[in-house]
Amino acid sequence: MRKQIAAANWKMNLTIQQGEQLIDDILAIPHDIKDNQEVIFAVPAPYLAMAQQKLRNKENVFVAAQNVYSKKSGAYTGEISVDMLSSLAVQYVVIGHSERREYFNESNAFLAEKVNICLDNNIHPIFCCGEALAIREAGTQNEFVASQLKESLYHLSADQIRRIVIAYEPIWAIGTGKTASSAQAQEMHAFIRTSLTDQYGANTANSISILYGGSVKAANAAEIFSQPDVDGGLVGGASLNAEEFASIINALQ
Ligand code: PGA
Repeated sequence: MRKQIAAANWKMNLTIQQGEQLIDDILAIPHDIKDNQEVIFAVPAPYLAMAQQKLRNKENVFVAAQNVYSKKSGAYTGEISVDMLSSLAVQYVVIGHSERREYFNESNAFLAEKVNICLDNNIHPIFCCGEALAIREAGTQNEFVASQLKESLYHLSADQIRRIVIAYEPIWAIGTGKTASSAQAQEMHAFIRTSLTDQYGANTANSISILYGGSVKAANAAEIFSQPDVDGGLVGGASLNAEEFASIINALQ
């Protein structure tokens, strides 16, 4: 059975003290993380060690980096390597968030390199895909997402792609308060799963968790997560509030 995942994406928010407090507050609220469920905190790089320290004994709770560089080491001032993440025992990294694609010009080909170096070093990518509003309005969102998957992931073997989590995040729903309807989310998630099936077969496709991201909050999480091909969420704004995020964890199916 594939995993159901609630992933927090703090983005560039909070001080380390606020981050520590937020983790403490979430852990203090009764929440139930079942065997097939995971909770992931994607925290800013300077807080990875703190988060890892706080969460290392919590079952099914993991820390993620929000970014990693495509090279192993060297003269890349300011970048973070997979070895640095491994040395902190960080097991997940968000790859290809739309904000990185847009503001830092990360291309599908570059993201493929990042995916490769993660998999070569036993770090699981949480690979983000999703279309902008203009593409949705033109009705070409399926083709657009298919090309993101093809150009960044479909060179992988079945064994490799099984180690990836996919997050579908329509850009028009990120931080806008405008959530995709659960039917729109399901439609795209089913399309992604069919594409994975065509490429890798049903067994592999059915083992890959596909998260929805874009204005997920306590009030809509249960409805979105109830869709058959939605396996949890990647949550920005609402993950900065302990009550909200604890409710989202409890909404996992
Ligand atoms: P949001 O962000 O929940 O604030 O819309 C989601 C994301 O960008 O991962």
